[in-house]
Amino acid sequence: MLKIVVLVSGGGTNLQAIIDAISNHILDAKIESVIADRECYGLERARLAGIPEYLVDRKVEKQNLCTKVDELISPDCDLIVLAGFLSILDSGFIAAWQGKIINIHPSLLPKFGGSGMWGMNVHRAVVAAGEIKSGCTVHYVVDEIDGGDIILQTEVPVLASDKPEDVQKRVLSVEHSTLVAAIKNLIK
Ligand code: GAR
Repeated sequence: MLKIVVLVSGGGTNLQAIIDAISNHILDAKIESVIADRECYGLERARLAGIPEYLVDRKVEKQNLCTKVDELISPDCDLIVLAGFLSILDSGFIAAWQGKIINIHPSLLPKFGGSGMWGMNVHRAVVAAGEIKSGCTVHYVVDEIDGGDIILQTEVPVLASDKPEDVQKRVLSVEHSTLVAAIKNLIK
């Protein structure tokens, strides 16, 4: 059984998708813990599911954030999932967990990735660029922001009338199944 740690910063709908996929026997995995870098609803989702949850406040820990997060992760963890985690992990952490960290990003990487490209910023940029499609990408985390090998992508259309909020909703609606499918692929 795959031992997973999920890192969150926001609403945690992707975390919820993993929780549900495990409950529904779609994923043979266990979420060992959920770690957040700020107070967020993702932590509440963990509490409601009876999963150990920890807050490592980015504003308090600053440069120590990655060390503190690392201390909370058991060495036998198989996979660290960044599910809307917005702090940048340092190279030491990434090297220590090389090949075991994946991220879900709300665009079709390599488009609209990199520094500052997170959440609504991504969808605003997609609409401003007049893209006719967007989507989400699950990829390995390496030292370059959003630069690791792609595991799985799902496309959605972008309509001429779309506002960034419309694109966000459409992309989020495919993120959950894409993330679960990507983890399932890794289990295989
Ligand atoms: C998701 O759209 C995810 O792709 C994005 O944050 C949102 C989290 O939603 N991640 C990034 O922008 C990372 N660069 P959630 O908290 O409901 O899962």
